[in-house]
Amino acid sequence: MKVDPAQNNGLSLRVFKTVLYAQSRSHLVGDRKSEASSGHVAVGKAIEHTARCMRCSSTSAPLHMEEIYGLNAIKVGTMGPDEVRKMKIEKQLINALKNGDRVDSYFSVTYKKPVSEYKYGYMFEFRTADRTGQMTVKYWGGDDRTRVERLQDSLERGGVVRIKGEVGEYRSQLEISVSEKNGGVIEKLNPGEYEVSALLTTLEDIPEMKERLLQFVREAEEPHLTRLLNDLFQDEGFMEVFSACPASIQLHSAAIGGLLHHTLNVVEICAKMLQLQPGLDKDVVIAGALLHDIGKTRSFTVTTNINHTAEGNLIGHLVIGDEILLDRIRSIDGFPEDIALKLRHIVASHHGRKDWGSPVEPMMPEALLVHEADDMDAKLNYMVSKREEAVTEDDWTWDRRLSRLIYLK
Ligand SMILES: [Fe+2]
Ligand SMILES: [Fe+2]
Repeated sequence: MKVDPAQNNGLSLRVFKTVLYAQSRSHLVGDRKSEASSGHVAVGKAIEHTARCMRCSSTSAPLHMEEIYGLNAIKVGTMGPDEVRKMKIEKQLINALKNGDRVDSYFSVTYKKPVSEYKYGYMFEFRTADRTGQMTVKYWGGDDRTRVERLQDSLERGGVVRIKGEVGEYRSQLEISVSEKNGGVIEKLNPGEYEVSALLTTLEDIPEMKERLLQFVREAEEPHLTRLLNDLFQDEGFMEVFSACPASIQLHSAAIGGLLHHTLNVVEICAKMLQLQPGLDKDVVIAGALLHDIGKTRSFTVTTNINHTAEGNLIGHLVIGDEILLDRIRSIDGFPEDIALKLRHIVASHHGRKDWGSPVEPMMPEALLVHEADDMDAKLNYMVSKREEAVTEDDWTWDRRLSRLIYLK
C-alpha cells in the first residue's frame, strides 16, 4: 500500500507518524463573513494508514492513525489575531444523510471535476467520503468564473473540507448541493480541525489478527512453501504494510486492518472446509488463501480516505499479486515448479470468473475453495454491514448493488 504525499497534505509517503504543523485555515468561499470567525490555526500530530478491493470485499492496505485533538484555534479572516477560539465542527455521517437535510459538516475529498457553465454562472462537482460512505457534492457558483475556479483549484484529493449545503436527490442518488447564492460554503480545513476517526476506520484487533494469521503460516509443512510464507509474513516491513492495508474502498473492510481481517477470514473458511475435504492439498489451499490478495498492498493509497493507486487501477491487484509472488518464488532455490504454478493459479483465478476480473477460472479444487471463501466473506461482510449501518425506521432497506431488499429486524 502506498501513501501519496500529494494526497496527504504534502507529507511523505509511508511516514506513519507525522507531525502536523500549525497552519491558518483558508477561506475558500468569499461570501461568508460570518464564517470568518471560525477560522483557526491548529497544532497536532497524526498518522498512519492504508486501503482494500471491491468485489472480494478487500481493497488496499490500512495503516493506523492517531487523531489530533485539543488543538489551539486562531481565528483568521475578518477576526483579529488575538481573537482565538476552538472550533468543533459536528460530524454528520454520510450514511445518515437524508433528502432535504441541511448539512454543516466535514468530509474528505476523493476526486473533483472541472468547472463548467450553467444557466446562472459556473459550477463544479466533486466526490466526498467519510467512514460510512461516499457522496457527490455540487457547488453552484455565480457568474464570477475566476472565483469558482479558485475554489475548485483549492480542493485536493485527500484534503478535508467543511461543507454547508443541503441534501438533494438526482437520478435516485442523494447528493449535497452547495449554492453560493444561498450562503452555501465549501471551506478547506487543516489537520486538527476534524477528527480523522470520523473519516477512516481502524480495526481494533490488528495485533490479535496478525498472530492468528502467523499461526497458519507456522502450520505449513512443505519446506519451500514454508520459506515463501516466512519471507513474506515474517518480514516486518511487508507485514506493517499488509496489516495496515484496507481491503476495499467502501464498506466493511474499507478500514485500516481490512486486508488482514479479510485474508484471515478467507484462510479460516478454507481451514474449516478442509476438514470436510481432507483430500485437498492443505498447504496449497492455506498458502493460496494467505497470498490471494497480496497485490492489494500496492493497490491502495490512504490519506483521509482510501483510494486506488495508479498501479492498482492500471494493473489490478491480481496481476500485482502474481508479480510479488513470482519475485519471492524466484528468490528461493529449488522452489517446486508445480507448487509455484498452483499458487499463481489461485491468485489469478480467485475472482472466479473472467467477467469478475480473473484472467482464468478456478481449474482445481484448491483454487475453487479459495475463490468461494473469498466470495463468501465479501458478500457476507457486505450484507452484514448494510444491515448494521442502515439508518431507517423501516424494517427494510433497499440495496442498489444487490438489487434487493435487506431485512433489518
Ligand atoms: Fe479477497
Ligand atoms: Fe481480490
